[in-house]
Amino acid sequence: MGTLLVTGGMGFIGSSFIRYWRKINPGDRIINLDLLTYAGNPYNLVDLIPSDTYTFLRGDVADAGLLDRIMEETQLDAIVHFAAESHVDRSIQEPASFVRTNVLGTQQLLESARRAAVPRFILVSTDEVYGSLGGKPGAFTETTPLAPNSPYSASKAGGDLLARAYYETFGFPVIVTRCSNNYGPMQFPEKLIPTLIIRALHNLPLPIYGDGLHIRDWLHVDDHCSALHAVLEAGRPGEVYNIGGGNERTNLEVAGRVLQELGLPQSLLEFVADRPGHDRKYAIDAAKLAGELGWKPERSFEEALSATIGWYTANRSWWESILSGEYRNHPYLKGGGRS
Ligand SMILES: NC(=O)c1ccc[n+]([C@@H]2O[C@H](COP(=O)([O-])OP(=O)(O)OC[C@H]3O[C@@H](n4cnc5c(N)ncnc54)[C@H](O)[C@@H]3O)[C@@H](O)[C@H]2O)c1
Repeated sequence: MGTLLVTGGMGFIGSSFIRYWRKINPGDRIINLDLLTYAGNPYNLVDLIPSDTYTFLRGDVADAGLLDRIMEETQLDAIVHFAAESHVDRSIQEPASFVRTNVLGTQQLLESARRAAVPRFILVSTDEVYGSLGGKPGAFTETTPLAPNSPYSASKAGGDLLARAYYETFGFPVIVTRCSNNYGPMQFPEKLIPTLIIRALHNLPLPIYGDGLHIRDWLHVDDHCSALHAVLEAGRPGEVYNIGGGNERTNLEVAGRVLQELGLPQSLLEFVADRPGHDRKYAIDAAKLAGELGWKPERSFEEALSATIGWYTANRSWWESILSGEYRNHPYLKGGGRS
């Protein structure tokens, strides 16, 4: 592919993607642009030494001057845009930063990339832009109307629609992917599966919103990366591709499985007040991606969840440094930030 700008590469999926990409294309150059918000953790890529093929830049996707400088200095072959405020609960407490990064930041990145004529741009969107299936059968397809319900999903829908507009208006070759819920190593502890695992490892009750019957379609992060790989190589500009695992599980089933895997009693499940505007059900129809690009997920949910529990059990220091705040003492967070 040549030179890739990856935004949000210190987060959960972005760091997995960089690791994945370097394994299959070791000669490519990656520039990782990340603001290192609370969710950006340099220890996610601790094994990656700055070199001719890897550069880290601490910076904001909403910073036009910085983006223009990067694109003047370097001829980019592709951009994979992960950077976002990503946690629904935080978007309910404080929506403004979601609009700033997910809408305005995305627009700025699209604009700079368009002016620099970057030939390929993948916007990593989410299935949450479709809203909720409620009690209905079936699954979201790429033509399902967008009906986001949380400030997070509304801000992602804003970026997603701007991408569409940049293709329709300017012919800018952007592709949008809409993926279901991810899980795997190095997911920030505030998200559902790490919360469940870490609390279970402390023998603490596992909080379950409402009746626990909300359904999510779970996809292992490495399967998400292989889907992005397929889209980056052969996706058609201007198109949207759904990415999903076909693993629809209620939150209660997921939490029950975590307890079972760790040999703990189901009595640790604790029902708490529901999240406002909580979407009842997501399910993804990924037939377009399978049919056009031949992608399919490789991992079974039960096996990959078990491996993920194993990872959190074996890598306590990774999440303990987040819970204690120690991870914020990394040198990248002490000024400079360019490597
Ligand atoms: N996690 C999921 O289940 C899931 C599912 C579908 C789509 N997505 C999308 O995938 C992307 C990555 O999600 P994630 O779970 O890895 O998120 P994350 O919160 O773990 O990581 C986000 C990263 O973006 C960086 N960032 C935030 N604001 C920035 C800014 N203004 N400029 C530069 N960097 C900034 C953060 O420092 C962090 O490293 C997001 O766009 C998210 O909407 C996530």
